[in-house]
Amino acid sequence: MAPIYARITGTGSALPERVLTNADLEQFVDTSDEWIQSRTGIRQRHVAVEGQTTGDFAFLAAQRALEAAGVKASELDLIVLGTTTPDIIFPSTACLVQHRLGANGCAAFDVNAACSGFVYALGIADKFIRSGQSKKVLVIGAETLTRMVDWSERETCVLFGDGAGAVVLEASSEPGIYATCLHADGGYKELLWNPVGVSVGFRDEPNHGVRINMSGREVFKVAVKTLDALVEETLKAAGMEASQLDWLIPHQANLRIIEATAKRLNMPMEQVIVTVDKHANTSAGSVPLALDYAVRSGKVQRGQNLLLEAFGGGFTWASALLRY
Ligand code: ACO
Repeated sequence: MAPIYARITGTGSALPERVLTNADLEQFVDTSDEWIQSRTGIRQRHVAVEGQTTGDFAFLAAQRALEAAGVKASELDLIVLGTTTPDIIFPSTACLVQHRLGANGCAAFDVNAACSGFVYALGIADKFIRSGQSKKVLVIGAETLTRMVDWSERETCVLFGDGAGAVVLEASSEPGIYATCLHADGGYKELLWNPVGVSVGFRDEPNHGVRINMSGREVFKVAVKTLDALVEETLKAAGMEASQLDWLIPHQANLRIIEATAKRLNMPMEQVIVTVDKHANTSAGSVPLALDYAVRSGKVQRGQNLLLEAFGGGFTWASALLRY
């Protein structure tokens, strides 16, 4: 039997209208545009205003991806949504988006793998398609991460933004996703976490203790080392050489981490999609936002080989190597 591949047939994305520049941040936190740009590459971020939710951006990104693919919501068999900032505790944001799209009846669930959420969701969707279980799948990465930001904490507040991206995956005899690699190590949980919740309980603190705790320097070191190993593993799993890659579409956390991965692959920065300057770190939204930007700006062309990778809280790390 001929193999079934999962092919991306449409991409979409959505960002809040409100933009917060580094100069805006200088007004209320002890930081500088120079510090932020030199350490991270970030110039601005989009921030959801009160009332806007993860599901709102997920819905818009999904609509755009469906339109680009020429697929109706009613044709979907599955919706997988990566997020660590769901609208409400339950139902899942995937269920909320499913209903808004009018895709009722298909399976829908969220994946919480922090910044790796979209790539995890893509890996899961790929398995559903390869097994013959699903034919048309919507995969979304969406966040309102700034809801967890303590705007008085300069170590973290300068790093994050909000937004969403989505892809439609369809079963095809043509490649398609060649390989996905998903990993986690919960032993690192305390380096990057938000340790309150329904079961543990919330705290009598501002925002009920909901805020990102991060040991930036340690995260940086493990991220670089882990991503180096991950890209090697992914190339091997796909039976490819780095020279066969057309584009690297990395998680957009920090330009220095992105540059280190590109160097490892011997790829010039001209072949790396960078949106961290405009979007900052949108966690699970970052890779699909960068992908949609790359497609709509005409950089990524049909038939090209793309390496997607992400690293985040958990720690989790994940990759996908695919022909667009
Ligand atoms: N503005 C000005 N100064 C600052 C700021 C700020 N926003 N934040 C920290 N500083 C100061 C610190 O207080 C410190 O001052 P000191 O030397 O007087 O003590 C100094 O800058 C250096 O701080 P470091 O933490 O050593 O700076 P570093 O070069 O490591 O950069 C950063 C910090 C950008 C967080 C970096 O470590 C990083 O990017 N780490 C990866 C973490 C990450 O990307 N997390 C996102 C989520 S996880 C993921 O998606 C990968």
